Amino acid sequence: MKVLVTGGMGYIGSHTCVQMIEAGMTPIIFDNLYNSKATVLPRLENLTGAAPKFVQGDIRDKALLVETMREHAIEAVIHFAGLKAVGESVQKPLEYYDNNVNGTLVLVDAMREVGIKSLVFSSSATVYGDPASVPILESFPTSATNPYGRSKLMVEECLTDFQTANPDWSITLLRYFNPVGSHPSGDLGEDPQGIPNNLMPFISQVAVGRREHLSVFGSDYPTHDGTGVRDYIHVMDLADGHIAALNKVGNKSGLHIYNLGTGNGLSVLDMVKAFEAASDKEIPYQLVDRRQGDIAECWADPSKARKELEWSADRTVDEMTRDTWNWQSKNPQGYPDL
Ligand code: NAD
Ligand code: UD1
Repeated sequence: MKVLVTGGMGYIGSHTCVQMIEAGMTPIIFDNLYNSKATVLPRLENLTGAAPKFVQGDIRDKALLVETMREHAIEAVIHFAGLKAVGESVQKPLEYYDNNVNGTLVLVDAMREVGIKSLVFSSSATVYGDPASVPILESFPTSATNPYGRSKLMVEECLTDFQTANPDWSITLLRYFNPVGSHPSGDLGEDPQGIPNNLMPFISQVAVGRREHLSVFGSDYPTHDGTGVRDYIHVMDLADGHIAALNKVGNKSGLHIYNLGTGNGLSVLDMVKAFEAASDKEIPYQLVDRRQGDIAECWADPSKARKELEWSADRTVDEMTRDTWNWQSKNPQGYPDL
């Protein structure tokens, strides 16, 4: 199956491309390299033996999308491209709505023009806002507290309306919990620019000596050790979830919504301990105030995906931390420039 992968040079997209090639699919990457490096391409080739086709372009460029879809006889689209930093989205809401919402509308319009009717969209557990209880089911109410989250929710709503008007389309909304880890080779991984916002890249940069210590945001949450609890999922499991979605519901018309998580909650200090064991490095940390907008705990009920997609996230926290450390220690400064 020939699949257009928008944002395929990024963290989750690149890992998904590896697993797609392993599964016999043909990814065609469409990415503007805004938050990724061209170095990813030769690494994909080394890992899989075949460099995926790559088109450097912006998802807001409809003409280029249509041309690419036609030239490569695309049958389905996985849509990762977008901006994802919560804090930045508060400073630059227009850029976030333009990239994430407008970009998706242009992409769907291009698909409609070419006659492609199968789309998998990268959504986020952020659409559950501050959930009333855990574990979180897909049927829980949705809300958003920042422009990034609102852009994901708006896209979900636009796609829902579009699918209602076009019942022959298959549209899948995958709500990711907290992706971490990297390809076990250590050749692909998460490479945030500047100071990492997310926990795992921050911990691994402390371990490798790029940062002095971790600030633990909040130690008075009503959780087992007072620090925030999340559902960390190995990026390779997440990648496999996309293949399961394409195979199981990608050609079934309808709107399909799945949580992609493990169903287990781990605290910040649980992750620090696991990382210390994997890296044999001490992670100095300081307990500081809560980060604005954070919630106490968030984990998935992943049983719908298990049942309908026959997929589950089975890689352990030890694999998550081991693979993150392997990537970070092999690439202390992230991807080099080509
Ligand atoms: P990433 O930034 O590593 O990858 C996104 C890719 O999209 C980058 O390669 C970037 O260059 C590209 N891109 C951005 N805007 C583009 C545009 N207008 N046109 C073409 N390409 C563009 O991010 P990621 O962590 O791989 O996340 C992928 C998707 O998953 C995003 O939509 C993100 O919101 C969503 N998501 C991520 C997480 C997470 O924790 N990483 C959690 C939930 C949801
Ligand atoms: C964040 C985003 C969310 C996004 C998700 C995945 C916010 C408020 N939410 O979620 O919208 O979908 O990333 O990209 O930014 N922590 C520390 N110290 C750090 C970093 C994090 O203690 O330096 C803690 C946080 O308080 C939290 C946990 O680690 O308890 C995980 O944080 P993070 O990796 O940023 O993910 P989320 O907050 O779950």
